[in-house]
Amino acid sequence: MVKVMGMVGSPRAGGNTQKLVEVALEAAQEAGAATELLTLHDKEMEPCIACDICRETGECAIYDDVPGVLERMVEADAIIIGSPVYFGNVTGQLKILMDRSRPLRREFKLKNKVCGALAVGASRNGGQETTIQAIHHYLLIQDAILVGDGDPLAHYGGAGMGGPVGDTESDDPGLETSRNLGRRVAELARLLER
Ligand SMILES: Cc1cc2nc3c(=O)[nH]c(=O)nc-3n(C[C@H](O)[C@H](O)[C@H](O)COP(=O)(O)O)c2cc1C
Repeated sequence: MVKVMGMVGSPRAGGNTQKLVEVALEAAQEAGAATELLTLHDKEMEPCIACDICRETGECAIYDDVPGVLERMVEADAIIIGSPVYFGNVTGQLKILMDRSRPLRREFKLKNKVCGALAVGASRNGGQETTIQAIHHYLLIQDAILVGDGDPLAHYGGAGMGGPVGDTESDDPGLETSRNLGRRVAELARLLER
């Protein structure tokens, strides 16, 4: 059975992004995948200091929670990355993880994983698409395979709107696009598994 990981890039526990990632994972389960939720708010993550040791050893020389997160990413067949919109971009927490995942790129350990993105902003046009694009750029540089939210809406991924925690529970477009994203990621991962 394919395993789909949902990663939550918010510093808030149980926030709007987590809700939509959970909804995407439920849809992935309905499409026949096993799922796993990974949150970043509870991880100790130092920023990359460009020591370049990973270029020699293939491993990061900072021993915090990041190496464990990277292992879990490598074990998954597919990954959905969700982030709140912070100034039109991903959160600092998620950017730290992206930068610290440089060792994975040495042997392209995320190559051919089926991946998708979702973003939540407080404003309707608050930067959901630019945030999704930032995640897509990251995934392309890791040589992953990207999917959006698929038929019938078929755009970039999950796009939610909400400010205070709980808002995305009644955000129908956010719920629908996230559900579609989860289903689409699982469908393609299962096709590739055959
Ligand atoms: C530092 C910061 C920057 C933000 N920047 C934006 C923004 O550019 N556009 C937007 O629509 N919302 C912005 N927001 C609002 C969050 O995206 C919004 O509250 C979201 O629901 C948070 O998701 P979470 O509950 O998963 O943490 C910002 C919030 C913070 C704390």
